[in-house]
Amino acid sequence: MDLFEEKFRLSMSSKVALLNRITYYIVNRKGKQMRPMFVFLVAKMVSNSEVSERTYRGASVIELIHTATLVHDDVVDDSNRRRGFFSINALWKNKIAVLVGDYLLSKGLLLCIDNNDFDLLKIISIAVREMSEGELLQIEKARKLDITEAVYYEIIRQKTATLIAACCSLGAASVKPNSPEVETMRKFGELIGMAFQIKDDLFDYTEDKIGKPTGIDIKEQKMTLPLIHVLNKASQKEKDWIINSIKNYNKDKKRVKEVITYVKQHGGLEYAIEKMKEFRNQALDIIKTYPNSEYKQSLELMVEYVIDRKK
Ligand code: IPE
Ligand code: IPE
Ligand code: MG
Ligand code: MG
Repeated sequence: MDLFEEKFRLSMSSKVALLNRITYYIVNRKGKQMRPMFVFLVAKMVSNSEVSERTYRGASVIELIHTATLVHDDVVDDSNRRRGFFSINALWKNKIAVLVGDYLLSKGLLLCIDNNDFDLLKIISIAVREMSEGELLQIEKARKLDITEAVYYEIIRQKTATLIAACCSLGAASVKPNSPEVETMRKFGELIGMAFQIKDDLFDYTEDKIGKPTGIDIKEQKMTLPLIHVLNKASQKEKDWIINSIKNYNKDKKRVKEVITYVKQHGGLEYAIEKMKEFRNQALDIIKTYPNSEYKQSLELMVEYVIDRKK
């Protein structure tokens, strides 16, 4: 990871001073870096400890794309905090955040192209397309407030799980191109990603200090699994009250708190936790057949971390 960080930092450099100031701000507030860790650990597990320059490049590309999506996501969600500090849009405004996100995305794609890693480029490009579709599907559903549990899974698969799927398939492809394990690892990552986003959506119902705002999903009319589940169980009268709250009182802090309390009292969180664990178990099942190694053990620990993490 030390080596990776050095390469990652270099991958962002630009001739434009303003860009360098912003990317400097970004790399100094690094996140958990789970995605590059998945790239390296999968590469090592499938090859029995070998990683190549391609693996490092793949990890950098993924983290670049991830960073770009966070910068854009905070514009889309109108969120002013990220990783415990101000978001890029909060400090430099939306215009600049949109352009910085585009810059990081293009730097990522070019890192593949300049090194002829076209197989990795394909994996990444598919993830980028899916993430954009997922974010748009979410907006569409937020407008109509008619999301079902199945559509929720489709949204989180697209907006979040595809990138973690890309991490794992790219990790495998970086050391074993054309092997069937590339697809197996994609599936492994996708299941991890599903659990990962359910956990992220659960954070929104807590008051923990996670480095980004909580209680913001309802404000943005974003219905996630805990809410979808209690809606499914609610009486018509309760349903009307919830939908009316989200439609017309989403900026009313007291009303949003009441909805959150309702969700908690009606088992919404427990249900989401149960589903999150199902995805976790399905992910672990996929790597069960691999011989035991320190890499496999670390991957198992990472999967556990995804659902236990505190931020
Ligand atoms: C946040 O991802 C975006 C989601 C997909 C929920 P992370 O929680 O991995 O973000 P950082 O990189 O650690 O800040
Ligand atoms: C995360 O979306 C998915 C992407 C960044 C594409 P969210 O909006 O749920 O994530 P956070 O909570 O802001 O990190
Ligand atoms: Mg979002
Ligand atoms: Mg967001």
